[in-house]
Amino acid sequence: MIFRDFVLKDPLLRFLHHLSNGYKLYAVGGIVRDYLLGRKSLDYDIVVVGNFRDIVNEFLKKYGGKLIQITEFGTAKIKLDGIVVDIARARKESYPEPGSLPVVKPSNNIFEDLKRRDFTINAMAISLNLNDVGRLIDPFSGYEDLFERKLLRVLKDRSFYDDPTRAFRGVRYKNRFELQYENRILKQEIPFALEILPRISFARVRNELERTAIEEKRADMFKEIKRFGLLDHLGERLDAPDTSFDRLDEILTDLSSEHWLPFTLLVVQLREDLPDLKRHEKHVIKTFREFLKREIPDDPIKIHEMFYNVDEIIPLLIGLIKGKEILVDYYHARKQVKIHVSGDVLVSSGIRKENIRRFLIELFVKKWLGEIKSKDEELNFIKKWTS
Ligand code: CTP
Repeated sequence: MIFRDFVLKDPLLRFLHHLSNGYKLYAVGGIVRDYLLGRKSLDYDIVVVGNFRDIVNEFLKKYGGKLIQITEFGTAKIKLDGIVVDIARARKESYPEPGSLPVVKPSNNIFEDLKRRDFTINAMAISLNLNDVGRLIDPFSGYEDLFERKLLRVLKDRSFYDDPTRAFRGVRYKNRFELQYENRILKQEIPFALEILPRISFARVRNELERTAIEEKRADMFKEIKRFGLLDHLGERLDAPDTSFDRLDEILTDLSSEHWLPFTLLVVQLREDLPDLKRHEKHVIKTFREFLKREIPDDPIKIHEMFYNVDEIIPLLIGLIKGKEILVDYYHARKQVKIHVSGDVLVSSGIRKENIRRFLIELFVKKWLGEIKSKDEELNFIKKWTS
C-alpha cells in the first residue's frame, strides 16, 4: 500500500523526504498507526538507516527547532512549535534480563527496528525515501490487525517478560482503539508481566499510570489494570465497585496525569514507602490508608470534623469505595462552598479563639446543607452564636 499524501501533504515529512537522498528515512510507530486511523498524532517518530547525526544536524540547520536531548544510543529529541520530533538511528534491542532496560545495537535494516517493538499495530513504517515515498512497511500485518481482525497482538512470545510495562501499554491500546486481546496476551503474556513487574522500578510503572490517567477511556483502563492485577505488587488490592471508576472519571473532569493517584487508589492501597513519590502524594496515600480503616459517621457535622484538614480527594475515594454517597456529596461541597465572612470579622465578633474551628465546622455544614446561603445569613449565624 502506498500513502504518498501522508508524506507530501505534511511540511515536516515532505522536508525529510527531500533530505532523504543518500539516507533511508522512515516514519514509524504511533504516527503511522494514527495516520491510518485518521487520528492526529502530535509527535513525529522518525527512524534513520544511515548517518543519524547528519540528519539531525541538517534538520536543525534547515528546518529549525531546538535540540533538547541527544543520546549515545542514537536518539535525538527536537522541539518545534509545541510538537516533538524524535529522530532515532535504526536499532535492534536485546534484554539481558527480564524487566531490565534493553541493550541497544545499531542496525542497517528497518525490519530489525520494527521487530523490537511491542505490538503489530505499532510495528509499521512509512517510507519517506525518494524511490518509494509513502510505501507502507508492515512485516507483521499490523494493518489487518487494526482494521480487519481488530486485534491487539504482540510480535513475539515473552514480549511482556522482557518488558512488563507493555502490559500497561496494551491496556491503553486495546481500550483506546477498541481492539480485542489476542489469546496469547491473556494466557501467557499477562502472567509473564505479573511475574516480572515486582522487579522493575516504581518510576517506570508510575510513568505508565500517568499516561493512562490522560486517556479518554481511563476508567475502563484502570478497571482492566485492576482485573489483571498489574498493581498487586504495590499494595493490597481493594474491592471498589467498577462503577466507582466511572464516577471518579466524571467527577475529575479534566484529563490530568496527576489523576494517576486517585485512580490507582481505587485499585490498591498503595504502600507509602514507594520511591519517587511527591510529598503531597505520600501524605494522600498515608491519610487514605488511615481513613479507610475508620468507621464513617452519617452525621454531616461529624463527617466534616473527621475530614476537616484532609485533602478532599480522600473522602471522595472512601465514599466511592464504601458506597457512602454522603461522602461524594461532601466532596462536592468542599469544592463549592465559599465562606464569605473573613477571619477578622470572626475575631471581632467576639467568638473565642478556641471556638473558631467549631464555629467554622457548623457554618460550613449549614452552607453545605443549603441552610445558609448569603453573607447576611452568615452574619446572623455569628450573632446567634455569640448571643
Ligand atoms: N515501544 C515499544 N515498547 C515500549 C515502548 C515503546 O515497542 N515499551 C515502541 C512502539 O513501537 C511505539 C514506539 O516505541 O510505537 C514509540 O513509543 P511511544 O511514544 O511510547 O508510543 P506511541 O506509539 O507514540 O503511542 P502513544 O500514542 O501511546 O504515545
